[in-house]
Amino acid sequence: MGLDRGAVVSWYERNRARSRALFDLLAEDAYYSQPIDLRHPVVFYEGHLPAFSFLTLVRKGLGCPSIDPRLETLFARGIDPAESQASGVSEMHDRRLEWPSRDLVRQFAQEADRRVLDALEQGDVDRRGHPLLDRAEAVFAILEHEVMHQETLLYMWHQLPLEKKRPPAGYALRPDGRVPSPEWLDVPAGRATLGVDRSSVAFGWDNEFPECAANVPAFSIERHNVTNAHFLEFVDAGGYRDERWWSLEDWRWIQTGRVGHPLFWAQHDGAWYWRGMFDLIPLPLAWPVYVSHAEAAACARWREARLPTEPEYQRAAFGSPGGERRHPWGDAEPGAAHGVFNFSSWDPEPAGSHPAGASAWGVEDMVGNGWEWTSTAFAPFPGFRAMASYPEYSADFFDGEHFVVKGASPATARELLRPTFRNWFRGRYPYVYATFRCARGHDE
Ligand code: AVJ
Ligand code: FE
Repeated sequence: MGLDRGAVVSWYERNRARSRALFDLLAEDAYYSQPIDLRHPVVFYEGHLPAFSFLTLVRKGLGCPSIDPRLETLFARGIDPAESQASGVSEMHDRRLEWPSRDLVRQFAQEADRRVLDALEQGDVDRRGHPLLDRAEAVFAILEHEVMHQETLLYMWHQLPLEKKRPPAGYALRPDGRVPSPEWLDVPAGRATLGVDRSSVAFGWDNEFPECAANVPAFSIERHNVTNAHFLEFVDAGGYRDERWWSLEDWRWIQTGRVGHPLFWAQHDGAWYWRGMFDLIPLPLAWPVYVSHAEAAACARWREARLPTEPEYQRAAFGSPGGERRHPWGDAEPGAAHGVFNFSSWDPEPAGSHPAGASAWGVEDMVGNGWEWTSTAFAPFPGFRAMASYPEYSADFFDGEHFVVKGASPATARELLRPTFRNWFRGRYPYVYATFRCARGHDE
């Protein structure tokens, strides 16, 4: 079956419109600021999105000439955040002198968009046997790359001072809810499929291939994500001051960075607050806590449990007595009743408020309302091959420092909601929309 050009053109246009809307949330003077240390300033991303699409599909894929080699090099690739020493809001560095003017970035972006759209409309972008264009791989790579970056933009924006952001029309803060009591569910032993065969899907990233399977012994897992209320018990019990709960490196990070609570929290006059996207609000106790892997693992250890492995996540989310499902809830297309994803909210919603999205075992919010930390270091499946359209995409991060996160956050596009999609972050990266729940083997 051939490529549906109408569908990819409209997806590209939808992506560009959403990216534009995200940049429009910022005050003009935030353009050269760097909300997170060791990620680029805002200006980079406005160039990077169209530059990556142009370079991958038009330059590398179709072999067409450059627009502006200097800007293409500048915007080619974002760096992965290395460990940040900062524990709070990063400083607002002004990089005005080191980066091009916004006008120049926009001119470049417009020309890149024109050439990408031209390629999508009439270029020879679906070529059997071509390293980048077989099954139109580069087309889907640029489309999914942009939606992934929209989440990156949002969690960067999240760290900016509130006065640098303008809430969109119709913005309303989501309310808190009733804190669900901790509840453990049993998942019977069984097989979990990890990955998929390249030939059986239209597109996937290299780290999703090939298909393999794991035997997962019976285990228990929490029905709900750990909420702010329950994480607060760990904080109040002195969890950040007791090295028993932390790995050596994580404990060093806690000490040198003076980390004493989740980055999404703030304390004023003894009261806890949530640093939302557009508001500082009294800590919503029923929302899932957003934390780094280090903090999630420490809290799990304090609760005499651990994080689930990637195969356990897979089994808990997609397994069922009658075989594996496409989504935790079954085959139905993802909708608002199933979970918090696809930019439906700027912050999480109360844990357990989407029971229609529960998995076969009753586990809720496995997809949406925050990525789920696993204890599995990001690594290739046996038989991994780096993809030609973006060889560094995964391979640069198989370093033991990154952990697999699964599921989705409120800022994850619906196109990424598939069982094999794998995301990853550094273990001590506190900026992301990632939460957790605890697991325990039956003999542990
Ligand atoms: C897969 C989300 C970890 O943002 O670092 C974007 C995606 N890679 N451009 C990231 C990505 C290159 C990547 N994550
Ligand atoms: Fe990128």
